[in-house]
Amino acid sequence: CGIVGYIGKRDVAPLLLEGLQRLEYRGYDSAGIAIQSRSSGLKTAKAQGRVRELESRIPKRFAGTTGIAHTRWATHGAPNDANAHPHLDGEGKVAVVHNGIIDNAAELRAKLAADGVTLASDTDTEVLAHLVARAGADGADTLEAAVREALRHIEGTYGIAVLHADFPDRIVVARNGSPVVLGIGEHEMFVASDVAALVSHTRQVVTLDDGEMATIKADDYRTYTTEGSRTSTSPETVEWAAESYDMGGHDTYMHKEIAEQADAVDRVLRGRIDDRFATVHLGGLNLDAREARGVRRVKILGCGSAYHAGMIGAQLIEELARIPADAEPASEFRYRNPVVDPDTLYIAVSQSGETYDTLAAVQELKRKGARVLGVVNVVGSAIARETDGGVYVHAGPEVCVVSTKCFTNTAVAFALLALHLGRIRDLSVADGKRIIAGLRALPGQIAEIVADEPRIEKLAAEYAQAASMMFVGRVRGYPVAREASLKLKEVSYIHAEAYPASELKHGPLALIEPAVPTVAVLPDDDLLDKNRATLEEIKARNGTILSLAHGEQEKADHTLVVPRNEPELDPILMGIPLQLFAYHTALALGRDIDKPRNLAKSVTVE
Ligand code: G6P
Repeated sequence: CGIVGYIGKRDVAPLLLEGLQRLEYRGYDSAGIAIQSRSSGLKTAKAQGRVRELESRIPKRFAGTTGIAHTRWATHGAPNDANAHPHLDGEGKVAVVHNGIIDNAAELRAKLAADGVTLASDTDTEVLAHLVARAGADGADTLEAAVREALRHIEGTYGIAVLHADFPDRIVVARNGSPVVLGIGEHEMFVASDVAALVSHTRQVVTLDDGEMATIKADDYRTYTTEGSRTSTSPETVEWAAESYDMGGHDTYMHKEIAEQADAVDRVLRGRIDDRFATVHLGGLNLDAREARGVRRVKILGCGSAYHAGMIGAQLIEELARIPADAEPASEFRYRNPVVDPDTLYIAVSQSGETYDTLAAVQELKRKGARVLGVVNVVGSAIARETDGGVYVHAGPEVCVVSTKCFTNTAVAFALLALHLGRIRDLSVADGKRIIAGLRALPGQIAEIVADEPRIEKLAAEYAQAASMMFVGRVRGYPVAREASLKLKEVSYIHAEAYPASELKHGPLALIEPAVPTVAVLPDDDLLDKNRATLEEIKARNGTILSLAHGEQEKADHTLVVPRNEPELDPILMGIPLQLFAYHTALALGRDIDKPRNLAKSVTVE
């Protein structure tokens, strides 16, 4: 979900709508806005669906210079008008927008109902509006005190912004587990859950910590803890410029983000390669050579595409640094009471740096004394701040819900980390040089792959009719198959499964028929002959095969030939044609590419 708020001199509704558009990738089930109108207290407008729906519902007389707004990814309650934020108290004096989940909402709703309060929605958030109003009625004489009192009853996570008709000169915000960023302007202040909503107005931001609150007024802001003691914060300058959030002439963000991968990879490499010692410098790693030599295992944690990038990372670390490594979904890890081992290096992977499951895994690990590094895209995000050090991915802002450039850059960041660890353990100078040459070749090879788009587009149109697709690969090819299958599902809604090619014969082969094509990832490595045997098995069942390989494959119906890099780095390149494949399949099917149904870019709830 996304939050945006403004207080200043400008007409607030257009500003908030623009902010919501920029945040829409975080949730797009419904949207809403509340403003302080000079004449008659709070006014709201809400709509199920996209921000443009909301725009069409804004009444004519909706003037004001203070307001808050929200775009929702439904957790509690269906995505309809009533459940859209902002939520109000019974009298319409308090308006609240909220990201996160209130765990004890059912209990609080029951208590409020028993006290005669009529609840207008099915959401957890609504209780907050009633609790703030009640705290006011019970004697809290400032909005800050009322919000603080309301939060005392809340268990769960939140990023909130609160308006109150009786305190028109301020917005009060609070954070516990869901990001809140203040944007500092000249005689105007912003608040948002993500800098994306702020950067076109100001690049001076203050990021709240968990347990922190803030009051913003047109000319100043102050931060304090939920207990009320002042905290000191000074604004930081946001690194990403507003232009990098624009579509730059493409029809979708997904297309733009696929197309700009050569530049993105160039950025993650820049300034890090050390030719003299055939290694790399990772300034923020915070792991000295002695500590790195003491690492006995590496455990990588992430969700969705980040988890798949972590699988490639684990493979790279095993191959280049010879440290046993594996990746696991952060959500599974945190709930199975894992053995936390002091000789294991834990690495959390996340584009946003705020995925709740990944963040919670980091916090659990730290509580148990583990060393946790981050491989993160958003600088200063929660996971970046909670980890002991790490590698920034430098992909730039990724707006499409479906991850592409950040996935690729994360895999490259892992290659850098693996090379670094390898060179202080037992990777030879010659191998170090070989990998560095491979890394340097990546941007040019990515540009070559992207230039092959017309052919991929044609193939995608043929495969778009499939009822389901099977993706197979082995060892280096397997994470590529996993990610490509996820990409296709997310954006085209075609059912897809990924399997190690060797496992096909142990069950999924039963699914193979002409309507279920197979995409086979076949790098030219030691396993190529074995992979070819899998193709024979598929052909014998009349399956259609699209192969991804370093040369034409006789058994396949179509082959996408990918430029050859070093064997260890090949998986990084092999994912890219399949991003374009998913994109064009979705386009052929008329899907909403940047905002696939039911999904959100950052899932800040469990
Ligand atoms: C969501 C997105 C996925 C993403 C995952 C992890 O589910 O839809 O595309 O891979 O979150 O996000 P993160 O920001 O932690 O990389």
